[in-house]
Amino acid sequence: MRALVYHGPGAKAWEEVPKPEIITDTDAIVRVDTTTICGTDLHILKGDVPVVTDGRILGHEAVGTVESVGSGVKTVRPGDRVLVSCVTVCGTCRFCREGHSGQCLGGGGWIFGYKIDGTQAEYVRVPFADTSTYRLPSGVPDENTLMLADILPTGYEVGVLNGGVRPGDVVAIVGAGPVGLSAIMGARLFSPSHIVAIDLADSRLEAAKQFGADITVNNLTDDPREVIRSLTTGGIGADVAIEAVGTPATFELAVELSRPGGRIANIGVHGEPATLHLEQQWIRNITITTGLVDAYTTPTLLRLVTSGQIEAGRFITHRFALDEFDQAYDVFARAGETGALKVVLSR
Ligand SMILES: NC(=O)c1ccc[n+]([C@@H]2O[C@H](COP(=O)([O-])OP(=O)(O)OC[C@H]3O[C@@H](n4cnc5c(N)ncnc54)[C@H](O)[C@@H]3O)[C@@H](O)[C@H]2O)c1
Ligand SMILES: [Zn+2]
Ligand SMILES: [Zn+2]
Repeated sequence: MRALVYHGPGAKAWEEVPKPEIITDTDAIVRVDTTTICGTDLHILKGDVPVVTDGRILGHEAVGTVESVGSGVKTVRPGDRVLVSCVTVCGTCRFCREGHSGQCLGGGGWIFGYKIDGTQAEYVRVPFADTSTYRLPSGVPDENTLMLADILPTGYEVGVLNGGVRPGDVVAIVGAGPVGLSAIMGARLFSPSHIVAIDLADSRLEAAKQFGADITVNNLTDDPREVIRSLTTGGIGADVAIEAVGTPATFELAVELSRPGGRIANIGVHGEPATLHLEQQWIRNITITTGLVDAYTTPTLLRLVTSGQIEAGRFITHRFALDEFDQAYDVFARAGETGALKVVLSR
């Protein structure tokens, strides 16, 4: 089969590799029908994620058709159309039993395109297939359900639910990439009074409006602190501030935007230390949460995508054939110019 193989920083190739086989009786082999690229794949390609070594097949999101299953697989059958989530669930360890499979101790968690071969391929081996795949209803396009593999649960769980968004809240979302936009969509489900999206790129702010932000702020030219003050009685700040960028400046901004007793939900992956100004914050009763996506909300989000309450198709800006990874990575990596949100590659 063909797959997109990582060959060290800056090097990848769509090349012939052995087709995956069942190794453990709880595995399934899934034919990849649709896959996509994540910002994390760009980090890996830059060499920022040294766990990923030469020869690894990239990718951690897919929708596909089950081709074969091990003797221990009970709930999925060859021919089933399934979502392959970025989080693999062993189902039996302490964290999986508590719904925190991102921290799985039994060999799951985020492993595709990282610790094991990933989904940017014609076929993928899926460990713990019963608990790590989701059978898909008919009538919803594959590319829409593909958005459930990573960005929708990430924005919803790590942003909206960790941040405890409630009806009437003022919600500030720093960063309007695919993950920040997912948080906007998820926050809308709770009827906040205002969602304020903050980004440096006007194209992303335009997308934020379409995804349901009430107010957008370009923090190159305008001060989001002023905007949030003007929206809140007494200028107290946002009930919930969601960080969806991953830089010290945006984390510190999210903290500043929150009201006393407010909640700051960090989603961004950080590569360097950020300052928590405890000398100012100790008195403000704030709650800060962090997290890796667990994907425990996938069944809920699948129902919302199926019913159309979450319009997952909005994320898809570009479409390619499965062998056009070079073009797809190029378009995705130049999102500022191309306006790319999610690019999908399909058979
Ligand atoms: N916690 C998790 O489980 C998890 C899962 C997936 C992704 N992530 C992380 O979430 C973050 C967002 O992901 P994404 O795919 O949307 O990324 P992205 O790079 O597409 O989007 C980031 C956005 O932030 C904006 N931005 C950059 N600097 C800014 C600044 N100073 N002020 C305001 N806006 C700024 C950019 O213009 C861009 O629109 C990344 O750090 C990603 O690694 C975390
Ligand atoms: Zn991802
Ligand atoms: Zn587990």
